[in-house]
Amino acid sequence: MTESILAITGPTSGLGRGTVLELVDTFDRILLLCRNLEKGARLKDDLLDLNANLSVDIVWCDLSELSSVNDAAKTIKDRYDHIDCLINNAGIVSTSKQESVDGYELMMATNYLCPFLLTHLLLPLVMNSERKQVIVVSSGAYKFAPMKQPFFKPKRFSPITGYGRSKLGNLYMAQELHEKYSRQGLKTTAVHPGMVSTNLGKSNVSKKVADGIFKLLDPFFVTVEEGAQSVLAAVKNPDTYAGFYSEEGKITVVKKHGNDVEMRRAFIDATLEELDIQSL
Ligand SMILES: NC(=O)c1ccc[n+]([C@@H]2O[C@H](COP(=O)([O-])OP(=O)(O)OC[C@H]3O[C@@H](n4cnc5c(N)ncnc54)[C@H](OP(=O)(O)O)[C@@H]3O)[C@@H](O)[C@H]2O)c1
Repeated sequence: MTESILAITGPTSGLGRGTVLELVDTFDRILLLCRNLEKGARLKDDLLDLNANLSVDIVWCDLSELSSVNDAAKTIKDRYDHIDCLINNAGIVSTSKQESVDGYELMMATNYLCPFLLTHLLLPLVMNSERKQVIVVSSGAYKFAPMKQPFFKPKRFSPITGYGRSKLGNLYMAQELHEKYSRQGLKTTAVHPGMVSTNLGKSNVSKKVADGIFKLLDPFFVTVEEGAQSVLAAVKNPDTYAGFYSEEGKITVVKKHGNDVEMRRAFIDATLEELDIQSL
């Protein structure tokens, strides 16, 4: 029997960690794409404590750098010929204007451009698997603002519109994947996990500020275990969720800019040009 393989980005904290801990009996092998190898090693130990028969590989991948994504994809392709399920989960909220090493606005680079490149590079392996599943952890924040040119290097910075546009990009990517590859069996789902108490947005403010903000918002947040259920529902029911966007586990109609097909086309085409690739 062929080994079933899960690849996940951002598994070392929050939703990603909550998700993989629940999937130790679903896949034979889990590839942890991490930027912090020590956190990856600790997570590997935790996963093996839950299932000693699981195979776990750590692959270094900084999802804010295109070269790191290329290297990680090459490492994976050298080792494996298929991936059953790819979960694009890693993401950031940046409260100040920051540029990636490639010169892109950091949230757009980390949440959208690098996951797009990773998905493009690993898609042949996904299509070569039995399950053929891609999950994109998007967000209800996709409704915050319509996409706007210049897409990847905006002149003005706002944490809210910047994050919202990167998550709208995630949604467009999932829609594009579904349109292009569902007839060949690909099952794509975009997920909004709800407001979840994680480390998101905490890394670039002081601990005091972060604690204050999160204490204020605490009543609105669900736990990591609860938030992860949204991703897990899609992973475990690929046919039910294929081609859909789900909010907190419920298949939900996409609203506002999420339906701007013309803008999606322009945005995806600009992405392909920027990354110098022919198609997703
Ligand atoms: N929390 C929410 O309420 C919420 C709501 C809607 C959508 N989401 C989405 O859920 C996803 C997971 O976020 P979370 O809330 O679980 O946040 P989190 O606790 O901060 O976890 C984010 C994960 O992404 C990784 N990551 C960040 N930047 C990276 C980079 N440059 N290269 C590689 N990995 C990187 C982090 O690695 P380290 O461990 O090394 O930091 C961590 O594993 C994100 O896509 C986010 O947009 C979250």
